[in-house]
Amino acid sequence: MSNRTLAILKPDCVRKNLQGAVIKQIQDAGFKIVAMKQTRLTMDTAGGFYAVHKERPFYGELCAFMSSGACVPMILEKENAVAEFRKLIGATNPANADEGTIRRLYADSVGENIVHGSDSDENAAIEACYFFASSEVVANLA
Ligand code: RTP
Ligand code: MG
Repeated sequence: MSNRTLAILKPDCVRKNLQGAVIKQIQDAGFKIVAMKQTRLTMDTAGGFYAVHKERPFYGELCAFMSSGACVPMILEKENAVAEFRKLIGATNPANADEGTIRRLYADSVGENIVHGSDSDENAAIEACYFFASSEVVANLA
């Protein structure tokens, strides 16, 4: 089990000025932020990031949304980070997300659901490299 996951505050989160509120919830849940930046994806880079969904009907819409504005990727550290973070954000569709989860609290729809979380240790490692050089990852926060 790895202790890292890759999170993204999606463009709807940034547009709604919810970065601070969501980051506070992430930190209060015991995650350490070991890398973070603001960036903007293009249709191509969003398409690469979500390539696993290429054949899905929502792929075009997903790439358009993810490249529609600034986003904030971060690498988070906690024991059992992937599963713990997905528990914190809740189900993909906010209508099905548990009370108190980030998506339930802040997301409007399945397409605009505030935050991304890796779905496996393997993908967390791949996704971290998608956004960060090793010099941008500071694991020892002392
Ligand atoms: P994410 O990768 O963004 O953390 O979301 P997830 O694991 O909870 O869901 P996933 O199945 O990986 O889907 C990626 C994103 O695609 C959009 N989606 N739309 N219209 C739909 O039925 C549908 N299904 C998925 C969502 O924005 C989801 O976060
Ligand atoms: Mg996913």
